[in-house]
Amino acid sequence: EWSMENFIDIEIAKVRELVGDRKVLLALSGGVDSSVVGVLLQKAIGDQLVCIFVDHGLLRKNEGDHVMAALEEFGLNIIRIDAKERFFSKLEGVSDPEEKRKIIGNEFIYVFDDEATKLEGIDFLAQGTLYTDIIESGTKTAQTIKSHHNVGGLPEDMQFELIEPLNTLFKDEVRALGTALGMPDSIVWRQPFPGPGLGIRVLGEITEEKVEIVRESDAILREEIAKHGLDRDIWQYFTTLPNVRSVGVMGDGRTYDHMVGIRAVTSIDGMTSEFARIPWEVLHEISKRIVNEIPHVNRVVYDVTGKPPSTIEWE
Ligand code: XMP
Repeated sequence: EWSMENFIDIEIAKVRELVGDRKVLLALSGGVDSSVVGVLLQKAIGDQLVCIFVDHGLLRKNEGDHVMAALEEFGLNIIRIDAKERFFSKLEGVSDPEEKRKIIGNEFIYVFDDEATKLEGIDFLAQGTLYTDIIESGTKTAQTIKSHHNVGGLPEDMQFELIEPLNTLFKDEVRALGTALGMPDSIVWRQPFPGPGLGIRVLGEITEEKVEIVRESDAILREEIAKHGLDRDIWQYFTTLPNVRSVGVMGDGRTYDHMVGIRAVTSIDGMTSEFARIPWEVLHEISKRIVNEIPHVNRVVYDVTGKPPSTIEWE
C-alpha cells in the first residue's frame, strides 16, 4: 500500500543499495525539489552526499543565507559558490529572454562543473526532477515556448549516473514528502522559483540596478503577502521590471521612472493559472510601500491575465 512513510523507506533502501559506499553530488537550488532530495539522500547516505549551491546573484533577497541555514540544520554538507560576477558579465548587453536563459543555464553548468571537478570520487549526480518536469520538457510547445533548464542540463563530459528520487511525484507530493521528512514550512511551502531567477524578471537587459529594484520590490510583496496570511493561497507571487519608464509626480517635481509589475497567480501545477484575487487593500499597501521605499519607481501595476494566454513569468 502506498504511503509517504513507505515511499521514504523504499527510496532510502533503493539509494543505499545503488550507491553503496560511493559518493553522490547534488546541485542545490534552494527550491523545494532539490532541498527535499538533499534531505532524503542525507537520511539515506549521510556524508556520502556532497551538495553544491551556486549563487548566481539572481536570487531573491536573503535567499542564499536562508537556504544555507535551513539545510545545514539537517546536516547537509553544502559548498556555496558566489558566482555573481561570472553570471553578470556573461549577461551584459543581452536582452532576449531565451538567450538569457541559455546563458544562465550554461553558466550554471560551467560553474557547477568547475566545482565538481575539484571533488574526487563522485559517481552519482542527484537531481530534483519531478514527474511534471519530464512531461513539460517532453512536449514540443513547452520546449519551443521556453526552454527549461532543470532537465537534461548535464555537462556532457561528466560520467555520472543519475539519481532522481522525485521523478514519479507531483509537486504536492514533494511537499508532503518534505513535511514527512521533518522539513520546515519555509522550504516545503516555498513557491516555485525559476532557475534563471530574477534574471527573467528584469525584462530585457540585466543590470545590477534593475535586479536590485526587482529584489527589493519582491521582498516587500512577499512580506505583505505573508503578513496578510495569503501565502498558502497563491501559487506564485513576484514582481517584474518591464523596463518601462513613465511620468509621475513627487512633491513639486515631475519624475520619469520605472514601473514595477506585480504577478500573483493561483495554479495547480503551473501549466495553467488564474490571477490571484488579492484584496484591494493589500494591493494598495504593497503599491504604497514599493513606490515609497524603492528609489526610481513611480508606478505599480497588477497583472490580471491568466495562463493561457499569458505565461506566469513575463519572459
Ligand atoms: P511559465 O512562465 O512558462 O512558467 O508560465 C511556468 C512555471 O515554470 C517556471 N519557469 C521556469 N522554471 N526555468 C525554471 O526552472 C525557467 O527557465 C523557467 N521559466 C518559467 C515559472 O516560474 C512557473 O512556475
